[in-house]
Amino acid sequence: MSSFERRNAHFDRLFATQNLFWLGQNTNHLPMHSAIREALLRSIESEEFHAYAPPGGFTSLVHGIVDDLGLPHDATSALVKDGAVAALAVACHAFCKPGTNFVTTDPGWKWPMQFARQAGAEVREIPIYDAAAGYRLTARQLAETVDGNTRIVYLVDPNNPLGICYTEDEIRAFCDIARKVGAYVLHDSTYRDFADKHVLAARFYPERAITVYSFSKWLGLAGLRVGAVVANPTIIDHLAGISTATLGSSVIAQRAAQAGLAVKKEWMAGVQRIQRRNQAAIKESVDRIRGLSIPVYPSHGNFLIVECVELGLRPEALAAVFAERGIMIRQGSYHTPRFGSRFIKVSTTVPVEWVDAFCRELPGAIEAARGLNDVPELF
Ligand SMILES: Cc1ncc(COP(=O)(O)O)c(C=O)c1O
Repeated sequence: MSSFERRNAHFDRLFATQNLFWLGQNTNHLPMHSAIREALLRSIESEEFHAYAPPGGFTSLVHGIVDDLGLPHDATSALVKDGAVAALAVACHAFCKPGTNFVTTDPGWKWPMQFARQAGAEVREIPIYDAAAGYRLTARQLAETVDGNTRIVYLVDPNNPLGICYTEDEIRAFCDIARKVGAYVLHDSTYRDFADKHVLAARFYPERAITVYSFSKWLGLAGLRVGAVVANPTIIDHLAGISTATLGSSVIAQRAAQAGLAVKKEWMAGVQRIQRRNQAAIKESVDRIRGLSIPVYPSHGNFLIVECVELGLRPEALAAVFAERGIMIRQGSYHTPRFGSRFIKVSTTVPVEWVDAFCRELPGAIEAARGLNDVPELF
């Protein structure tokens, strides 16, 4: 089997596992709002999906996304994509080419680095796994890394996996640095709705900030594949011109997304209550085990990282033991080869029973992981 086939088979097995507790991908498994169910059923029953959606998304959805971000309609445009990942891909392919560089943090999210490399850019990762710096990118680090060939500063904010969220002052400083070298700020705001306060780079750098939007995490539509890229109309025109999704995105997914925006306030109040409760439950169990710790708490994402390096345990071993017990968590190396041996990551937008099962199993799983010699391949 090729390495791609092995990876595919791995996720196929996960999907086929009955009653799997999905605590590994920051997806949202809380029961959907009745408005989403109705929108999905209405779309299916009317069979409107025989037609292609507009290439850039239903206008009402585009307006809803711009409204949700609080950006000015007269200076903002958006393209609906098959998830934030497709939005990131089109932005990377639009601006990266040989001779340019793409700057991001380590840890961060790995796929955009792959897109930038595919387009020929050099990828520069700035290490931020550092307690002394609060696990955050500093303006100084960024200024020292960019140059006249930097095309994209890719900011995962809130950061996946760390869970930190940048302040207005930090975002302003990052934008000023990008502006000086003419770079785009690719602001991946996939987790913004879990933050206490999130500030968009587009407010300070409308000429070159690109906001990446997802419906996977706050609304729970990961498997439906819908998200967007949002920027000024000139940038969106350029991205639309090179997009491969010329026939639009899923009609059904867009209907669910529209319905979600209409009930967002009420929905998110409930989601936040549950996921912050889940964060607290994980923190409490971790605090009871010597050698485990949570570097960033509370997390501004719907996940927490748990450091296990002091236990002398490989995160992969722990993830493998949890997998045997029907619980998927993520090993740190998915995010970062450099720091990945230090931590596991656990998602919190899940039923409380799932998190309680993780907490209950944790002490025993650590013991079992110590005795595990053969760790299966994880992705
Ligand atoms: C930082 C970040 N961006 C984008 C995505 C993908 O979002 P989507 O499901 O909308 O493609 C993820 C998914 O885990 C992510 O962590």
